[in-house]
Amino acid sequence: MERLDATGYLAAPGWTDEVAGRLENVIAVHDRLVIAAGSPQPKARFVRSVWLDVHRARVESIGDAARQLRAIQRNWALYSTEQHRRAALIEEKLPHLSAKPLAFPSRAPAAPLGSWTLVDRDTILLAPTCTHFAPNGEVRFVEDKEGPPSRAYLKLQEALTVLGEMPGAGARCLDAGASPGGWTWVLAQLGADVLAVDRSPLDPAVAALPGVRFESASAFSIQPNTHGPFDWIFSDVICYPPRLLEWARRWVDSGRCENFVCTIKFQDDDTTADPYAIAEEFAAIPGSRVVHLVNNKHELTWMRTAASPSV
Ligand SMILES: C[S@@+](CC[C@H](N)C(=O)[O-])C[C@H]1O[C@@H](n2cnc3c(N)ncnc32)[C@H](O)[C@@H]1O
Repeated sequence: MERLDATGYLAAPGWTDEVAGRLENVIAVHDRLVIAAGSPQPKARFVRSVWLDVHRARVESIGDAARQLRAIQRNWALYSTEQHRRAALIEEKLPHLSAKPLAFPSRAPAAPLGSWTLVDRDTILLAPTCTHFAPNGEVRFVEDKEGPPSRAYLKLQEALTVLGEMPGAGARCLDAGASPGGWTWVLAQLGADVLAVDRSPLDPAVAALPGVRFESASAFSIQPNTHGPFDWIFSDVICYPPRLLEWARRWVDSGRCENFVCTIKFQDDDTTADPYAIAEEFAAIPGSRVVHLVNNKHELTWMRTAASPSV
């Protein structure tokens, strides 16, 4: 087995060119998996999971491949790029990984998870550790078809699970751009105290939940000198990213809120040279992470907590 001194970036579907284009020293691309020399590069966005410390192994047979993987650790996720049938036969010989959707709220599985792919009949690329706890970053949740008024609730459940922190009972939360109320519904389920702000109304069932208060206003009228303090600020407002950045920075600088989960929404017809460059400015806010969630569309999610290190 050979250590490549390289990192793998599994791009979200449709984002391989963007990921490969932003990375330095790309040495190979296998479907959505972009391998670049050296340690992880923080500028890669629209990535599902990062493969840390990529190795290459020569394998003599299906059994040998499974043996080599099992000798390193128990849990392995297959990302199949070539030789799908052979890869599936190797996967069958590895310990089964649960594909059960998570019930929110729950802690992300803590067991180490490696990833591997068969790039030709006799060669495996593998990484013993990946940044995401779910196979290929494809986290799924048990869905509630009755309670929440929109599917956007899944995005917040995913964000909070990835973050590994969430508001507790009585936490003071602002939900900006709350209508129809999927995120507010999630926060109310957690027992939080929610100020939901939107120019459109909330779904009446969500508005009636304990702890929920609605204000019909622009999110950007909610400023640290007039509102708060909050324990958490959430935003799913449809707006230009610079406007969100300016508003979020003002809250961070004020010290009147420590924890943020905000969707950065990009326009489909944006003609600026690099519409995603602004992600670096969000990422530069101390304690920040900028991620692409399974439930993000043409969006990134900026998350910042008092506790989290910069990524
Ligand atoms: C994607 S939806 C939010 C969905 C919501 N998170 C949920 O879970 O149901 C975006 C919302 O942003 C609101 N919005 C757009 N501009 C706004 C502004 N300046 N202030 C407040 N809300 C705004 C829209 O009215 C819309 O309800």
